[in-house]
Amino acid sequence: MAKTSKLCWAKWRLWITSLLFCVTTADVRYSVPEETKTKHVIGSLSKELNLDSNSLRFRKARLDYQGERRYCEVDLDSGNLFVSERIDREMLCGTASPCLMHFEFILENPLELHNVVLEVQDINDNPPVFPKDSIKLEISEAAPTGSKLQIACARDLDVGINSVQTYILSQNKHFVLDTKSNKDRYVDIVLKNSLDRETKGEHSLILSAVDGGNPPKSGTVVIEVLVIDVNDNAPVFSQPLYKTRLSENSALGTSVIKITATDVDEGANGQITYYINHLSDNTKELFKINENYGEISVAGQLDHEKASSYEMEVQAEDGGGQTGHCKVVIEIDDVNDNAPVISVKSLKNQIPENIQPGSEIAVINVKDQDAGENSLVTCSISSSLPFQLQPYIKSYFIITTTTSLDREQVENYNVTITAKDGGTPPLFSNITLNIQVSDINDNSPTFELQSYAVYIRENNKAGTSVCSVSANDPDWRQNGTVLYSLVPSEVNGVPVSSFLSVNGDTGVIHAVRAFDYEQFRNFSVKVVARDNGSPPLSSNVTVKVFITDENDNSPQILYPVPDGKSLMTEMVPKATLSGSLVSKVIAVDADSGQNAWLSYQILKSSDPGLFTIGLHSGEIKTQRDISESDNMKQNLVISVKDNGQPSLSTTCAVNLLISDNLSEVPELKDMTYENNSSKLTSYLIIALVSVCTFFLTFIILILAVKFCHRRKPRLLFDGAVAVPSAYLPPNYAEVDGAGTLRSSYNYDAYLTTGSRTSDFKFVRSYNENTLPAGGTLRKEDNIQFGSSMITLDVTGNEDEVREA
Ligand SMILES: *[C@@H]1O[C@H](CO)[C@@H](O)[C@H](O)[C@H]1NC(C)=O
Ligand SMILES: *[C@@H]1O[C@H](CO)[C@@H](O)[C@H](O)[C@H]1NC(C)=O
Ligand SMILES: *[C@@H]1O[C@H](CO)[C@@H](O)[C@H](O)[C@H]1NC(C)=O
Ligand SMILES: *[C@@H]1O[C@H](CO)[C@@H](O)[C@H](O)[C@H]1NC(C)=O
Ligand SMILES: *[C@@H]1O[C@H](CO)[C@@H](O)[C@H](O)[C@H]1NC(C)=O
Ligand SMILES: *[C@@H]1O[C@H](CO)[C@@H](O)[C@H](O)[C@H]1NC(C)=O
Repeated sequence: MAKTSKLCWAKWRLWITSLLFCVTTADVRYSVPEETKTKHVIGSLSKELNLDSNSLRFRKARLDYQGERRYCEVDLDSGNLFVSERIDREMLCGTASPCLMHFEFILENPLELHNVVLEVQDINDNPPVFPKDSIKLEISEAAPTGSKLQIACARDLDVGINSVQTYILSQNKHFVLDTKSNKDRYVDIVLKNSLDRETKGEHSLILSAVDGGNPPKSGTVVIEVLVIDVNDNAPVFSQPLYKTRLSENSALGTSVIKITATDVDEGANGQITYYINHLSDNTKELFKINENYGEISVAGQLDHEKASSYEMEVQAEDGGGQTGHCKVVIEIDDVNDNAPVISVKSLKNQIPENIQPGSEIAVINVKDQDAGENSLVTCSISSSLPFQLQPYIKSYFIITTTTSLDREQVENYNVTITAKDGGTPPLFSNITLNIQVSDINDNSPTFELQSYAVYIRENNKAGTSVCSVSANDPDWRQNGTVLYSLVPSEVNGVPVSSFLSVNGDTGVIHAVRAFDYEQFRNFSVKVVARDNGSPPLSSNVTVKVFITDENDNSPQILYPVPDGKSLMTEMVPKATLSGSLVSKVIAVDADSGQNAWLSYQILKSSDPGLFTIGLHSGEIKTQRDISESDNMKQNLVISVKDNGQPSLSTTCAVNLLISDNLSEVPELKDMTYENNSSKLTSYLIIALVSVCTFFLTFIILILAVKFCHRRKPRLLFDGAVAVPSAYLPPNYAEVDGAGTLRSSYNYDAYLTTGSRTSDFKFVRSYNENTLPAGGTLRKEDNIQFGSSMITLDVTGNEDEVREA
């Protein structure tokens, strides 16, 4: 409808114009399509104007056009109007329509002027053209449907129907053309379906403009629609749960796992930062995450024993604040990093030495914090100790004794318990228990010697230490403290305590009083050593005390009686020959040995050379035959000396009467006895008889002894036993009613204490040279009557008397 009305309107306008021209001049009107070929004959002017075509030349017909170009010319021969040049309507008229060209057709002779109007008809020779070949547009992916994009519309130089008639948009899912919009200036593209940059970030549309020519021409523009990102996607992890294993001794910085989240958004919206949503402060110190790369690494000391696994939430955040989450579970693998721990649960560190074998002395517990094989613990103790380790329940062990103990040998044990776990390599640990063995009074004191022999010189000082005994008790403290005491006994009816005393602590034995060899020569005493235990244990030892002789008795003259004066006169027959026994001096010495070995000497003689005396026999013999001239009365002074050091001596006088007639004796009697009395005579007789009897008995005894024991020494006067106390000289003091101690005789003696042989020495004596100093244990005396060797064996039990 619109088209037809347009066409009608164009015709109508044309008609009105031609009407106007007709009024003035006769105009010729032609129409020609543009772009017609040259030489195309538009119409015949001669026919239109009724002109003679032969006269045209003559009349100088010409066609004038205001402009540089001519476009049309008149053929002077035929009078035809033809196209001389290409006619482009668009160039001549643009969008004006109709496009009219005004020519003037001039003829001379006569001058004629005709207006020739040439209407240039449009042909569809131009396609629609968009301002640009391509258009770039941006639209947010979040743009709502119905949003419009304006595109400048296409132009077509052609007019009318040949101009742009329709637009066509290439097929796509998201955009359509807005049919309602005004197409003169813009074409609107409407968003039909919402966009997603992540699905398709760019859309390329082709918009075509189509004109109404026949055939129609079209022009296209490429529309590049760029979808602008909106942070509409949260980061997404590649896995919702990450699991990994890690050994507990991993070094700081060790990479644990790399987690990745992706965000399909772009730019900052797709920039992901990772965070650990920490569950506790502990894990915070243990792991860290690289914010940009999502790599989790170790930041602290991991310990399987504290936690065997960690679970954490990791958050990924993009630049727009969108977050995604995942869970990371890290299992911590055990490493054998814990040595077993030994703890003592109970301990008897003092055990008595008599403890029963098998007694329990300690309970120990062994733990290993590691897991699995690493926590399997084996435990041991040294097998050289009298203890053993036995498994008890679970991780408990007990230590028991295996044998009986002896504190005196080992008083403490260091029991080292070693524990080893099952790891590779295994870890060890040990502890040492110090176990003390406490004492039981199981040892009695023992003396160093089985018996002691002690030699004491007589006349010792009271209080002198004699020897010391010593006993050992290996027990502890009071169980090993030894106290000494004497076993009560009697020596010759006197309690032993009056002879000796023992220091209870030191075992030193002291003499309580002075001893007298002549009283007794030996005695034995028992010393008990007792410990302080409860009950106490004791043992005893015999101490044999030997008293050694000292020359403390001077010889005693038994015959002749010393006080007797002239009473003791021997008769010597006048006819006595030389060598005859005249008389005999009998003396005894209460000492023994050398000290009692007497020698006789004539000190003074009224007729020296007449008598001699046997040095040791005391026998007075004539040296020559007695002659008449010899004095009737002979006096001899005889000294009797013992062999001690120093020697002691006694003198006596012997009166001899050389006569054959007893009746001459009274003469002598008168001479010697002033106070003669019958009492004295009887006394003399008794004495004489008793001495003779004694002498004879003694000789017989000696002979008998000699006969029986040929090898026994002939000790004439052995000790004081034989000497009647009545003959004791006045310088002998009686001690305790018996004995012959000389009170003035003193010496200092000491014992070599601590000496095992307990020999004692007389270092200095009051009287020098009593015995050879340096008192040996053996003393050899050579006695003329036969050598006698007395061996005093101190170390042995018994002392022997041997003779050679
Ligand atoms: C036990 O150890 C202690 C101290 O460590 C030491 O004094 C003692 O002599 C040791 N005992 C043994 C029997 O080794
Ligand atoms: C006990 O352990 C210490 C150190 O822990 C070590 O020096 C020693 O040798 C171990 N002793 C034994 C008997 O294993
Ligand atoms: C001595 O031995 C007894 C058992 O005979 C014991 O009970 C006591 O503890 C011991 N004394 C010391 C000091 O060891
Ligand atoms: C001990 O003395 C007695 C007399 O008192 C004596 O018979 C005995 O032989 C002496 N023993 C020793 C070994 O000297
Ligand atoms: C001395 O010891 C013996 C055995 O060693 C014992 O038989 C005796 O009874 C003891 N004597 C005293 C007085 O303890
Ligand atoms: C002995 O002496 C007396 C008086 O002196 C004398 O009478 C007597 O005859 C003498 N006897 C002898 C045998 O000579």
